[in-house]
Amino acid sequence: MSKEFEARKKDHIRLALDSSNQASEDNGNGFERLKFDHRALTNLNFEDVDIRAKVLGQQKPTPFFVSSMTAGHSESYNINRNLCAAAHENGWMMAVGSQRRELTDDSAAKEWQEIRKEFPSLSLISNIGLAQLITSTTNQTKKLTENLGAEALIIHCNILQECIQEEGTPQFKGGLEAIDKISKEISLPIIIKECGAGFSENDFIKLQKTSVSAVDVSGYGGTHWGRIEGGRAIKEQTKQVAEAFKSWGTSTLDSLLNAEDANFNKELWVSGGLKTGLDAAKGICLGASAAGFAGALLESATISAEAVSKKMKVIEAQLKTAMICSESEFIKDLTIDKLSAN
Ligand SMILES: Cc1cc2nc3c(=O)[nH]c(=O)nc-3n(C[C@H](O)[C@H](O)[C@H](O)COP(=O)(O)O)c2cc1C
Repeated sequence: MSKEFEARKKDHIRLALDSSNQASEDNGNGFERLKFDHRALTNLNFEDVDIRAKVLGQQKPTPFFVSSMTAGHSESYNINRNLCAAAHENGWMMAVGSQRRELTDDSAAKEWQEIRKEFPSLSLISNIGLAQLITSTTNQTKKLTENLGAEALIIHCNILQECIQEEGTPQFKGGLEAIDKISKEISLPIIIKECGAGFSENDFIKLQKTSVSAVDVSGYGGTHWGRIEGGRAIKEQTKQVAEAFKSWGTSTLDSLLNAEDANFNKELWVSGGLKTGLDAAKGICLGASAAGFAGALLESATISAEAVSKKMKVIEAQLKTAMICSESEFIKDLTIDKLSAN
């Protein structure tokens, strides 16, 4: 493994744990602009609340997923093992970090063989960057999903990060065609996500015409890659560019609203700055079928599976509390009319 790759992945974890690289330190994911109408006369008992969710056409125990973080370096096995153990215990889906290293190094897939053996029934989702998808063959991409025993493939868009990263690959020409091609050539569902900068109405109009199954908005409001790559920068020019882009991005809320404006009729997932089950509940009211957490789980993932599991249980209890207090027995009862402007 190249020393540069190893150092970059470790920098990302260290800097993602620094709160100044969280956009939520300035302004939020947008959900602070909305609140639930409180139903004092809710006709439910807490134990009636049912958080099972339909995601990609399948019934899941919860609508939650671990949003892609890391893979392929010396610290990633422990982090991923902690996340997978907790996801398995709590009925979350687990989206892994970029499997880029596996494209050039077969031994990198070992990380997953051990995890798969331990958690054979865990819902695992593969991940590759759009810049790498463009330059890979269908067979190479398919192999990534086979390495994991994945039930879906996430392709991440991260143009801001690639532009500011000094060793980045900001080559995205032909991306939409590559997305459509892989969606037709691989039998698994394809999910397109951002990494904390969200999607415009124009993006949804473009993606509507492809064969992808879902979009995870991963909007502005949490982990911010302009800040993280700015924090890693060595050159003065990069630092100055990054400084101007530290608040760049479309909030998670606005990204969901952009999907609605575009009449986007594929599945929507919500992530980007989600900190609580209440944030997740608001995203579900706005049309999302699944809700993802990355930065909010990272610190606990560096500690233990038990620490991650504790966080997941709090998030689940927060979702259930939002549901009973808004008289929502089932996930499908979380609808936009339950929210009003804050
Ligand atoms: C340490 C770290 C590494 C990440 N690596 C990836 C990655 O490899 N692939 C990806 O799609 N997203 C990656 N992300 C982005 C997250 O999946 C997510 O989109 C983003 O952090 C916004 O969500 P958050 O505010 O909950 O952190 C990473 C995030 C973190 C914190």
